Amino acid sequence: MKRTILITGATDGIGKQTAFRLAQLGNRVIMHGRNAELGKEWRDALRKATSNKNIEYINADLTSFSDIEGLVEIIVNKKLVPDILINNAGVFQTNLELVTEHEIEKTFMINYLASFYLTYLLVPIMEEHNKQTIVNVSSMIHASNINLSDVVKPTNFSGSRAYGESKLCNILFTKKMAREQPHLKINAVHPGVIDTKLLRSGWGGGGSDVNAGADQLVFAALELPDGTTGKYFEYSNEAQPAEAANDIILQDELYDLSMKLIPQSS
Ligand SMILES: NC(=O)c1ccc[n+]([C@@H]2O[C@H](COP(=O)([O-])OP(=O)(O)OC[C@H]3O[C@@H](n4cnc5c(N)ncnc54)[C@H](OP(=O)(O)O)[C@@H]3O)[C@@H](O)[C@H]2O)c1
Repeated sequence: MKRTILITGATDGIGKQTAFRLAQLGNRVIMHGRNAELGKEWRDALRKATSNKNIEYINADLTSFSDIEGLVEIIVNKKLVPDILINNAGVFQTNLELVTEHEIEKTFMINYLASFYLTYLLVPIMEEHNKQTIVNVSSMIHASNINLSDVVKPTNFSGSRAYGESKLCNILFTKKMAREQPHLKINAVHPGVIDTKLLRSGWGGGGSDVNAGADQLVFAALELPDGTTGKYFEYSNEAQPAEAANDIILQDELYDLSMKLIPQSS
């Protein structure tokens, strides 16, 4: 069965290769990125390379709530409601940067809160169309704990800590959503240690080819049996995340914090 699949951060690294692989399989792929010119170039290149014309590109900077709202508006207006949403976009920040009018630390915003908001806006629309699959790209180096009172505007910024905490948030959110909305198929995945710009900025490089990362995202998007939800996968196997990821109080606190940070009119 061919699906419509929205993948964020599809202009580079694992996301770009996953978009290619999903398009090769004949799916309708909606690539997201933040550089419109580059995104359209990749879209055209992918259409040509895969002979699949059903590839779209939507631009949105994930440091902007209004851009995320714009993305959802385009999806609705162009009737591109996805069967599967892959929240993949991510960064490793070496310096403290604060974004939005709330002054939110950039790693937390891009790696977690943007995917929270996109999912929050899209799920009701996906449900109207009976579409319910979400993949959150986390990491095996997610933090073992998090102090939620110090994530939005951290006092002593550390790029590694911010990254690890944002990846723990991806799993906390996955588990909260699975608990509250059991009809969803929402899971988190570690894509492997993959040679990308993100790995180079955080850890200096190394890692496997992007295809190994795409294998993991394709697996989580297309191959998990129905009824699999709230799980965390490493290398195509269900794995146990840090104990904190299973902490229901922490899941609820993160949800409440996220609801306070997103635009209040929604
Ligand atoms: N690589 C690894 O070893 C590894 C390991 C574990 C988990 N992961 C996770 O895998 C996911 C993909 O990472 P990657 O390694 O493929 O990194 P990447 O090659 O740097 O790709 C990241 C993607 O996110 C996009 N992005 C970054 N900031 C954005 C913003 N403000 N608005 C919109 N899009 C933005 C990038 O766009 P630009 O190209 O324009 O910046 C790019 O398309 C991330 O969630 C990461 O945490 C990676």
